[in-house]
Amino acid sequence: MKKLTSEDVDKILKIKTPEQLFALIENEITFFFEISYLAIFILNNDETEYVLRKQIFRAKDMPGVARDTKLVLKDSIVTHLLATKKPILLKEVRVNLEVALTPDRQKFLSLLRNRLLKLKAELCVPGLENDKLVAIFVLGKKISKEEFSVQEVELFSSLVEQFAKVVYNFGLLRKEIEFFVSSIRKINNDLEAKDPYTAGHSYRVARFSMVVGKKFQNEISKIPYGEMLLYYTAELHDVGKINLSDRILKKKCSLDEQEYNAVKKHPFESAKIIAPLEKWFGRTIIDTVLCHHENYDGTGYPYGKKGEEVNILARIIRVADSFDAMITDRPYRKALVHHEVLSELKKGRGTLYDPKVVDAFLEAYREGLFKDIFFSQLESRLEDRKG
Ligand SMILES: [Fe+2]
Ligand SMILES: [Fe+2]
Repeated sequence: MKKLTSEDVDKILKIKTPEQLFALIENEITFFFEISYLAIFILNNDETEYVLRKQIFRAKDMPGVARDTKLVLKDSIVTHLLATKKPILLKEVRVNLEVALTPDRQKFLSLLRNRLLKLKAELCVPGLENDKLVAIFVLGKKISKEEFSVQEVELFSSLVEQFAKVVYNFGLLRKEIEFFVSSIRKINNDLEAKDPYTAGHSYRVARFSMVVGKKFQNEISKIPYGEMLLYYTAELHDVGKINLSDRILKKKCSLDEQEYNAVKKHPFESAKIIAPLEKWFGRTIIDTVLCHHENYDGTGYPYGKKGEEVNILARIIRVADSFDAMITDRPYRKALVHHEVLSELKKGRGTLYDPKVVDAFLEAYREGLFKDIFFSQLESRLEDRKG
């Protein structure tokens, strides 16, 4: 095992979001500890179970666990970690099972051993913060097949402790932010109620953006709170349209110059409404919302910025926004069918849109990653017809 330098420790201590930690664990920590397999479970928002958030494989013959694997609160691993607040080593469970004094103890330990075997776990490490078990790290064998040393278990435990702190604080921060976002969301709902053509638009743009954002994870994880930022900016990008008149929102023919100039102001209006969120996200949240109509070749509005002068979040939203506008009916035209929409995206590749984002979008479409979103759109259309 190589030594952990003070630079490594510094890097870990500076981390503020779970995404950044996941990236560090994937790219460095698993190599450092020579772990063949690692699964990270995090306590869900309702605090009813631990959901699998990440699996990392460093050896070929590791099948891992099913993506929907959960550890419920009654799970023997969870109860044991909560009771002892210490890591569980499979080899120790085996030894303890042999010397168990009571049938109850024997029963519990054999349950625990079987559970560990099912999860391919050699070691389970609790992530505790303020006495709350917020994360569970499940480690497979070491690549060398050697056993984990006491020193390694201790070192890994202190990393998981740091991870738990980040997850816990991030959860608190998220709750605080959600409180503010929910009031802005009300304005968005009012807008969508005013303009039936945009019903569900912000929700779908947010979901399209998140699917495509996964393909830019490296870039996005470098932006503080990048993933959260992408969701909120995609969801709230048009909230400033609330200040447009109904006449403009619902106009069936094309807009005259004056009306179009009014529409072009909506990124500024959106930025004003979301301004309280700058406190947590910094200037990036404002810039992203302001630039969601900028084109890759610099012909967009409001500034005419081009290429990478616009951040990756706004470049993703630009495509997601157009895509959603094209698949839905608008006052001035009917929805396009999917193959027409895809060819429109290709046409705008490199002019309206960032070519890398278009490629990622087309790939996600081919992989069927948008199916659930299309289904929700269909459902809301049926709802509209019923209404
Ligand atoms: Fe917009
Ligand atoms: Fe939009």
